[in-house]
Amino acid sequence: MKDVLKPFVLITGGSSGIGLALAHAFAARNYNLLLVSNQANALEECKSILESKNGIICNTFNIDMTAKDSALRIFEFAQTHAPDIEILVNNAGMLVFSEVVETPLVKLEAILQLHIQTPTAMCKLFGEKMKANRKGHILNVSSISAVMPYPGISLYGPSKTYMRYFSRALRSEMKLYNVNVTCLIPGATETGLYDPNRVNLTLAKQLGVMQTADVVANNAVDALLKNKAECIPGWLNKLTVISLPWIPSFVIEMINRHSTILQKGNKALG
Ligand SMILES: NC(=O)c1ccc[n+]([C@@H]2O[C@H](COP(=O)([O-])OP(=O)(O)OC[C@H]3O[C@@H](n4cnc5c(N)ncnc54)[C@H](OP(=O)(O)O)[C@@H]3O)[C@@H](O)[C@H]2O)c1
Repeated sequence: MKDVLKPFVLITGGSSGIGLALAHAFAARNYNLLLVSNQANALEECKSILESKNGIICNTFNIDMTAKDSALRIFEFAQTHAPDIEILVNNAGMLVFSEVVETPLVKLEAILQLHIQTPTAMCKLFGEKMKANRKGHILNVSSISAVMPYPGISLYGPSKTYMRYFSRALRSEMKLYNVNVTCLIPGATETGLYDPNRVNLTLAKQLGVMQTADVVANNAVDALLKNKAECIPGWLNKLTVISLPWIPSFVIEMINRHSTILQKGNKALG
């Protein structure tokens, strides 16, 4: 018998990649789930697998989170379909390789809405309830690209920098109310982002430059439940976060000149 009284975890972008791995990690720890993404079929498939494997409730909500009112609509849906969200995970994201001036305005606004406005509004709406209940956790997903501005991902990287610093400030505010905020800073992770025909995923994992989504998710859940401020999975990523900001900008410009990144075109996450 499924237990509606178990706490719910809300995961945005929960139907694939790191979000789905987080869903499995929380389900294995007996949490009920509310998964949000914009792929109805994928959501239904995940629901059926997660419920039958773990005996939990997995509700789903299909919505485009680049819409301005999406946080409010998710909040309203959660009132009836996931009564007490104990853990909020802001994970949904998209990666766009493109010079700013070459990016269509509509795409530019979408990435900023998805990475900044919507998760910020989610923290406000669900955080308010957590504050009233004097308990809860928020996990915000940033990226290793947050620590160093890099051309070609000028929208992606800095939007992840916002998420890192926002999480740090929110953490200080919410500490007073017994609500924990953790920021996940993954490096390269094996998800739909990487085309296995172009990238040798096995070698990348063997060399330690890429991790599986499961490893990243389990690291993140452990860090969250221990109330850690940040989670940077993998020693190489930890080293990168410390050392990358010291690289002078002329080196970055030189790498960029020789890089083929912009010719590879746009590749969207999810
Ligand atoms: N993979 C990496 O190397 C890496 C490294 C650092 C940080 N990250 C971050 O980790 C997070 C998860 O990425 P991932 O690698 O797991 O990629 P992914 O497998 O593509 O997952 C992204 C998730 O976000 C959802 N999403 C995208 N656009 C959406 C929209 N407009 N509305 C609602 N949901 C939307 C996708 O849902 P649909 O499938 O339904 O579109 C998908 O579930 C992102 O925030 C990303 O920036 C990833």
